[in-house]
Amino acid sequence: MAIAGHAEALPSTMTLGARVHSWVVSVDHKRLGMMYVGFGLLFFLVAGIEAAAMRAQLARAGSQLIDPATFNQLFTMHGTTMVFLVGMPILLGMGNYLVPLMVGARDMAFPRLNAFGLWLFVFGALLLYYSYIGAQGLYGTSAAPDVGWFAYAPLTSRTYSPGNSTDYWILGIMVSGFGSITTAINLIATILVMRCPGMTLLRMPLFPWMMLVTSVLVLIAVPVLTGAQAMLLLDRSLGAHFFDTEQGGSAVLWQHLF
Ligand code: HEM
Repeated sequence: MAIAGHAEALPSTMTLGARVHSWVVSVDHKRLGMMYVGFGLLFFLVAGIEAAAMRAQLARAGSQLIDPATFNQLFTMHGTTMVFLVGMPILLGMGNYLVPLMVGARDMAFPRLNAFGLWLFVFGALLLYYSYIGAQGLYGTSAAPDVGWFAYAPLTSRTYSPGNSTDYWILGIMVSGFGSITTAINLIATILVMRCPGMTLLRMPLFPWMMLVTSVLVLIAVPVLTGAQAMLLLDRSLGAHFFDTEQGGSAVLWQHLF
């Protein structure tokens, strides 16, 4: 039986399917933490392959290994992956695993929200990478986002980015951003209200302090980023003009929000 706050011991007779299922449905903070770090490392490998491909092209002057359009896609996917799918999940995963142990709580404050956050992150990442096969973009049938991880306006407008690849970038970051927000709320709640008796904030170890400050920063920054993504989606899909300078919008607004 699962003991809250402890990774569940798996009976050795369990089939592989049952083991995978037990991880997928788990709300245990240690398992979720390990899965966050595991997925982060997986995407570290993917972004590393993208980096290696870019370095291979850049190794010799005049090399024709990778065409310019693919290079744009590679650095966009590499940058986006490293920032949102490697840095964020590894940080949140370590927080998930360690914070309840270090503050003496049985689990995170909202275990199911915790699992929801992880799977939102995974789904967002899949959406982003689905662009490789799903976007009927400028370059034929496969086009990953190519607007840079910063996606500056007006590069992201329909005029300069006519296919669907930028929409996948927006949706992928938005969905995984919701995951980060839920995990930040969970960490803040755990640290503020679930510390064991006697552990005042000033007696709390440094790592939970770091996670508390980082989670507050995530709560300040990510909703703004998510709002900016929603505005960009409205611009691209419904003809809104937030970032469209020709219609009175502001390209600099994107830079402020981003
Ligand atoms: C050995 C490791 C790495 C290598 C060889 C590498 C290589 C590269 C290369 C070649 C570019 C494109 C430069 C260009 O032509 O514009 C790039 C861009 C970038 N890298 Fe890395 N990188 C590495 C690790 C990382 C890590 C650990 C992070 C972040 C945590 C990161 C984040 C970025 C970002 C944000 C960009 C800009 C992407 C853009 O312009 O859209 N990289 N990297």
